[in-house]
Amino acid sequence: MNELEPIRVELGARSYAVHVGRGNLGTVGARTRAAAAGAPVALVTNPTVDALWGDRVRASLAEAGVAATTIEIPDGERHKNVATLASLWGRLAEARIERGGLLLALGGGVVGDVTGFAAATWLRGVAFAQVPTTLVAQIDAAIGGKTAIDLPAGKNLVGAFHQPGFVLSDVEVLDSLPEREYRAGLAEVVKTGAILSAGLFERLETESGRVLARDPDLLLDVVHECSRLKATVVSADETEGDGRAILNFGHTLGHAVEALQGYEGILHGEAVSIGMAFATGMSEGRGFLRPSTGRRVRDLLRRFGLPTEVPAGLAAAALARAMEADKKRAAGRVRFVCLEDLGRTRFEALSTADLEGLVSEHLGKNVG
Ligand code: GLY
Repeated sequence: MNELEPIRVELGARSYAVHVGRGNLGTVGARTRAAAAGAPVALVTNPTVDALWGDRVRASLAEAGVAATTIEIPDGERHKNVATLASLWGRLAEARIERGGLLLALGGGVVGDVTGFAAATWLRGVAFAQVPTTLVAQIDAAIGGKTAIDLPAGKNLVGAFHQPGFVLSDVEVLDSLPEREYRAGLAEVVKTGAILSAGLFERLETESGRVLARDPDLLLDVVHECSRLKATVVSADETEGDGRAILNFGHTLGHAVEALQGYEGILHGEAVSIGMAFATGMSEGRGFLRPSTGRRVRDLLRRFGLPTEVPAGLAAAALARAMEADKKRAAGRVRFVCLEDLGRTRFEALSTADLEGLVSEHLGKNVG
């Protein structure tokens, strides 16, 4: 077992640690026991993750003397909805999870978001903890207390800020991720470098082969560094003022693409990659970003096998309307994250007409 220095998310009384290691899944029992203090625990997961890691987590919980009820929710973004949440509430009632209880989320972003929102609402709020099993969840979704479900009208439209008691990321579980899902997670890694750290971005460029090969040491470092950067952002701005909102780089168009595809056939990271290609092109078009830097971002995404083109058949007007539904909106304008340089962002307030014009322009040209 190799665990790097714990990362602190500093939020006063709601501060917590993010533990990033390799082979540290077996520490979940002791950490859960400390967080739940003898109260009932529900282990919430999906069938795919349960088959891979459920027994190991249950063994660790049993070894630590923690009695836990396993609750499975269906796999996939299209199930991140009110029906899944309602069924989870019902299972929590059956499992008699009481006020002092704890929900342990074992899975990717969908499991984490739904479990977190159930924890925020069950009995007006119970504790929860995150054991993320995908790259995108380890470096982004599990850290920072954003919990939500999707509506047909848009992604993450109903949710709450509810911080976990701890986050435990074991990079060894990433070895079992399907290649496509791993690469989709790399989109958020590229995002983190692009908006927060030129050093990380350059390391991804020079070591792209090792990244793609899931080199164990490099992966541990990258997940730890991305988690540290995310924790710094959340510690400075929990509820998404300007500080945290920069993490939405690539997400405005990305969410619109996902929504128009009905959350089918495209992974979140793939949609974010398309969104970042658009955002860099748009930043160049407005004169904020050197074209050579925008090209580096798009080249790295492509090297990681990620898409940078809007899927055929999606029209600019529909994309603009879907972007308008984005909840990060103020005074009728979308706050769009642009890139000025590696590690430096700025916001643009855009109307639906602006967005439609920009997307039309983007669809009409091949961004290199
Ligand atoms: N995933 C973006 C955020 O946590 O704010």
